[in-house]
Amino acid sequence: VSLREKNSLGIAAKARYFVQVRSIGELAEALDWAARQGLGTLILGGGSNLVFAGDFPGLVLQVSINGRCWQDIENDSAILALGAGESWHDCVLYAAGAGYRGIENLALIPGTVGAAPVQNIGAYGSELADTLVDLTALDRTTGEEVQLTCDQCQFSYRDSLFKHQPGRYVIIKVRLRLSRTRDLQLGYRDLTDYLDGQDTSRLTPLDVAHAVMAVRRRKLPDPAQLPNAGSFFKNPVLSLDAWHAFKKKYPDAAGYPGETSAKVAAAWLIDQCGWKGYRDERVGVHNRQALVLVNHSDGNGQDILDLAARIREDVRLRFGIELEMEPGVVGEVSAGP
Ligand code: EPU
Repeated sequence: VSLREKNSLGIAAKARYFVQVRSIGELAEALDWAARQGLGTLILGGGSNLVFAGDFPGLVLQVSINGRCWQDIENDSAILALGAGESWHDCVLYAAGAGYRGIENLALIPGTVGAAPVQNIGAYGSELADTLVDLTALDRTTGEEVQLTCDQCQFSYRDSLFKHQPGRYVIIKVRLRLSRTRDLQLGYRDLTDYLDGQDTSRLTPLDVAHAVMAVRRRKLPDPAQLPNAGSFFKNPVLSLDAWHAFKKKYPDAAGYPGETSAKVAAAWLIDQCGWKGYRDERVGVHNRQALVLVNHSDGNGQDILDLAARIREDVRLRFGIELEMEPGVVGEVSAGP
C-alpha cells in the first residue's frame, strides 16, 4: 500500500499492510491480528511529523476515531473532548468559533488530535500542555485503556512520555479545558507585528486563530503544495550562561531566553550557514523559513535525511551546537544500491 498521500513530506514509501480503524474495538482487533502475524506496527496520525526512510514491513494503522463533545460546562469554562482522529486545525476553529480560548494560537498546525500530545505541539507562545486535562490511551503492554493526566504525560518543549516510550500507548481521546475569559496570548513577535494598530481588547479567539493562520501562511509552506514536515529541527536549549556568551559573540542571534534556560532559533543557525532556499533536484530548504525542509520533486526519505545531516554538520562546525531532529524516522533503511 502506498503511503505517499499519508505523509506530509510526500515520500513514496510503502506499507506491507494498512488499515484505518474507526473504533477502539477495531483498533484492538487490528493490533491482535498484527501480533499473531508477528508484524511490527506503526500508528499514523496525520503523517506530518515523520520521515519514511524506507518501506514499512509491518502494519500501518491510521486511527480515525472521531467525535467532539463538550463536558463539564461552567460559566466561563468547559471541557472539550476530542477523538484522536479529528483534524487538529478543524477542532481549533470549532473551539474558537464557539468563543472558547486556549488553543487559538495553535491554528493551522497539521495533523490529528491524537498526534498532538506526542510532540506537545506548540506555536506563538502556546502549547498543548497549557490546556490538556487528560487523555485516554490504549496501553499496549496490558491491553487496557488508561487515563493519563496532564502531569503523567510529562510534557516539555516538543516532548512527552509518548516520545520516551514509543509504541506503548495509542492515544484515543484528548480532553482540553478551555475558557471564555482567559487572556489571549498575543505576545509572540510575529503575531504582535501582524496585529499592530488593531484594538486587541475587542479580538475574539477566532480573530486570533485567523491572525495566526495569516502569519503561518506567510512563512510556512502548505504541505499540499510543497510537501514538508514543519520544523525539521527543535530549537536547541542552552543554559542561560551559554546563551549570554553566545549572544555576546553573535549579537544578532535570534532566540527565546526563559527563566532557567534559553532556546536558540535553529532557523537562525541554519540561515547563517547559508542553507535558506538551497535546493538540489529533489529536496531543499524552504526559502522563507530555514527550519523547514521541503520535498520539491519525488525526493525519498534518504534524500531528506542526507540533507538534514549536512545541515547539522555545518551548524556543529560553525557554532558548536547540535541540532536535534524533530520528526521521527520510520521504515527500513535500504542497504544501499
Ligand atoms: N529566523 C531566521 N531565518 C529564518 C527563519 C527565522 O533567522 O529563515 C529567525 C528570525 O529571527 C525569527 C526567529 O528565527 O525571529 C524565529 O523564527 P520563527 O518565529 O519562525 O519561529 P521558530 O523558532 O523558527 C518555532 C516553532 C514553530 C512555530 C513557531 C512560532 C520549533 C522547532 N518551531 O519556530 O513550529 O510555528 O516557533 O511559534 O519550536 C513546527 O513545529 O512545525 C513549527 C512550525
